[in-house]
Amino acid sequence: MRAVVLRGPGPAEVLRVEEIADPEPAAGEVAVRLRAAALNHRDVWIRSGTGAYAGGFSKPVILGSDGAGVVVAAGAGVDPALVGRAVVINPSLDWGEADAAQGPGFKILGFPDDGTYAERIRVPARNVYAKPSGLSFEEAAAIPLAGLTAYRAVVSRAGVRAGETVLVTGIGGGVSTFALQIAAHLGARVLVTSGSDAKLARARALGAAGGANYRTQDWAREIVALCGGQGPDVVIDSAGGDTFARAVDILRPGGRIASYGATTGPVKEFVLRSLFWKQVTLLGTTMGSPREFEAMLALYDRGGLRPVVDRVLPLEEAAAAHRRMEEAGQFGKLVLRI
Ligand SMILES: NC(=O)c1ccc[n+]([C@@H]2O[C@H](COP(=O)([O-])OP(=O)(O)OC[C@H]3O[C@@H](n4cnc5c(N)ncnc54)[C@H](OP(=O)(O)O)[C@@H]3O)[C@@H](O)[C@H]2O)c1
Repeated sequence: MRAVVLRGPGPAEVLRVEEIADPEPAAGEVAVRLRAAALNHRDVWIRSGTGAYAGGFSKPVILGSDGAGVVVAAGAGVDPALVGRAVVINPSLDWGEADAAQGPGFKILGFPDDGTYAERIRVPARNVYAKPSGLSFEEAAAIPLAGLTAYRAVVSRAGVRAGETVLVTGIGGGVSTFALQIAAHLGARVLVTSGSDAKLARARALGAAGGANYRTQDWAREIVALCGGQGPDVVIDSAGGDTFARAVDILRPGGRIASYGATTGPVKEFVLRSLFWKQVTLLGTTMGSPREFEAMLALYDRGGLRPVVDRVLPLEEAAAAHRRMEEAGQFGKLVLRI
């Protein structure tokens, strides 16, 4: 099969298509002929050997947590009727039994296990779900990791309710666009930040009530003004750094903040008084359980939501897709057609 094999950390150009042996499904697994994959920022961290992946890695790996395709083989113990089905893959591997947090065996597809930038993949049969029938393979592939992360952050962790005001920071990001859609679907009033006025306009078209540009405006002051002076009830953040600290500052008393990432780095200065005096709830969140994946996917199937796809590029242009993500050029998900 053809696959993008990462042999060591480096710039985007290290992502090249190679011919390698087809993976065969072991017991309890299926093989999927992938039709589309999608990028997540995690892929950039791994490829460049930065963030949580600064230590590099010891063996070549195929990146990619998101994929959709058709089941082409079933391993021992798997229902052969799965063969021929169009599916989308849940990248949360071995989440475990508890809803509260993942278990010790938890892994994310695409590192260390081979991922979806490939014509074919083997995954546990329990991780494949029927592709929403109204969506293309490219749209379906855009959903899994980002949709799951956003669903858990907005629904399970922050418990967003109709009528609340929710701030989603950095709206151009893959997860952020899902958070906006899901919070708006719940009946929340959603505000956003972005480094681009064009992305703020696109967010409004998607249902955001307003937003602020963190490059050209005092975004925190603008957001408070848009909230009528009290600040948002909930913040969904992955920017981290100073953005996280200021977001806690502007929450209304009793507010909640869900953090799922630190794109801009660690929080350097944090005023604890903002947390305790205002009775703020700080929520950490990562990926999600199989139950959450199913509930999230239903929103993009029967629920009528559609993922925001920024651009579809051929697998051969994985490097160009990584560069676009590094420059934060995208609005929504970058997809690779296979
Ligand atoms: N814990 C988990 O389970 C989990 C899951 C998924 C992702 N993550 C993490 O979450 C982050 C986002 O992932 P992703 O795949 O959605 O990435 P992405 O598509 O590359 O989005 C990143 C976005 O961050 C925004 N940003 C950059 N600097 C900012 C700043 N100073 N203030 C506010 N926003 C800023 C940009 O938004 P604009 O373009 O609008 O300016 C950019 O588009 C990454 O750090 C990733 O590792 C964690």
